[in-house]
Amino acid sequence: MIRASRARTLSIRRSGLRPDYTRRVDLVSVNLAKDARKAGARVGLKSDAIVVEGGKPLTGRIEVRGAKNLATKAMVAALLGDTPSLLQGVPEISDVDVVTRMLDAYGVAVTSPAEGELLLDPSNVLKAHFAQIDALAGSSRIPILFCGPLLHRLGEALIPDLGGCRIGDRPIDFHMDALRAFGAIVDKSYEGIRITAPNGLHGANIELPFPSVGATEQVLLTAVRAQGVTELKNAAIEPEIMDLIAILQKMGAIIWTEANRTIFIEGVDSLSGYTHRAIFDRNEAASWAAAALATHGDIYVGGAKQLELMTFLNVFRKVGGAFDVHEDGIRFYHPGGQLHPVQVETDVHPGFMTDWQQPLIVALTQADGVSIVHETVYENRFGFTDALVDMGADIVVHKDGLESISRRVPRRKLEQAAVITGPTPLHGADVRVPDLRGGFSYLIAALSASGTSRITNLGIISRGYERFVEKLEALGADFRLEG
Ligand code: UD1
Repeated sequence: MIRASRARTLSIRRSGLRPDYTRRVDLVSVNLAKDARKAGARVGLKSDAIVVEGGKPLTGRIEVRGAKNLATKAMVAALLGDTPSLLQGVPEISDVDVVTRMLDAYGVAVTSPAEGELLLDPSNVLKAHFAQIDALAGSSRIPILFCGPLLHRLGEALIPDLGGCRIGDRPIDFHMDALRAFGAIVDKSYEGIRITAPNGLHGANIELPFPSVGATEQVLLTAVRAQGVTELKNAAIEPEIMDLIAILQKMGAIIWTEANRTIFIEGVDSLSGYTHRAIFDRNEAASWAAAALATHGDIYVGGAKQLELMTFLNVFRKVGGAFDVHEDGIRFYHPGGQLHPVQVETDVHPGFMTDWQQPLIVALTQADGVSIVHETVYENRFGFTDALVDMGADIVVHKDGLESISRRVPRRKLEQAAVITGPTPLHGADVRVPDLRGGFSYLIAALSASGTSRITNLGIISRGYERFVEKLEALGADFRLEG
């Protein structure tokens, strides 16, 4: 994807001409559209465009299943076992399909014994052809997490350029530094990265510069079978990471956590398979909650739980949303009256998650006053707001961030801030999904706007939102798929 445009820029440089950046931007959008179609096709989404008639509250009940941010990692963990693993509550999203295909390329037999279940049999792990993995990588960042398990199983890992949402540079330096600390040798080549461990992997003392989710998972998946004890400082402690630790413990790993984001892992000689039900998708739950608020609706999100959403629920309440916690889910609704502006700083867990800000911002366009969202995790996660402005929102993005006397998250060099002034009525528009969460926020905006909207690149949303078209139907949305 980006690779294609890079290759083109390189060839232009070699030919002595100046790179044509307009053409490069075009290639990026063409490739994004291709990614979207591929992602949609993986889950049987027939169309890549939706036409939405807005202004109707979303009401009804939908279910959320296992978290995208756990299920895909749990699938990779199965590679470490000597016996098959059974993962339950698996969402039907295209990222799961991508990982299924990758595991298949490595000889892991993946079958589905029942709806929402995956049986992963790693008895015959083998080296995959680089081209096979490369072809899948454009739409996912998961290949990087295969490193540790592949080093243990095969002594080598070949990692192509990585995909995922285009929300910043998304470097992998923490991952590579951690692998080196375990004794791995990292060689970069034009096509990707080759990692080997000629002398095996041994426990390490690692301190992450930032509590990265992916890098913490990298360390866990590598340390469980490395020789000796690993101490990981400044680790991410997201609920999905705790669920991954629970899975690894079921497999035979020895892992304990201590205060101040420190995790210890004592390596073991072998691991077996697991049986595990994935933790619910709190990002999907928060997205539907925001949809209920922005559309003046009432949505019962079956499967949602309070503890993992506590920080979100506080902000939801401050904005003026209401919720009732039940045994089997949470009801989110607009209780009437005016919404209130808030100041939010995204942060690692237990802070306000960066994936929650996009859907929330749509609701904030209807709040009475000035809201500020400080994005402190990614350096470029407000690109989606341009389309909301086209729909009538008043949002100004400060690319160097903003000072604030009331903030609690320390300022990061690359952070940005969005200032949202409301209430502004939204009207329909033609918009293109730029990334996963931004895409869902366009759906919410279109559903709450007056008039008709057309949203393309719909497939991107299927990377993380299971059967969202069926769910929209169940909630009474007025829309049709094009084509
Ligand atoms: C995961 C989640 C994503 C969520 C994010 C933060 C998955 C599949 N995705 O992404 O939904 O938004 O956590 O909660 O689980 N960084 C580096 N070097 C590295 C790795 C990360 O500088 O080697 C930086 C990133 O650029 C970013 C920050 O660390 O600024 C956080 O990234 P990270 O927590 O690793 O996010 P992901 O694991 O990619």
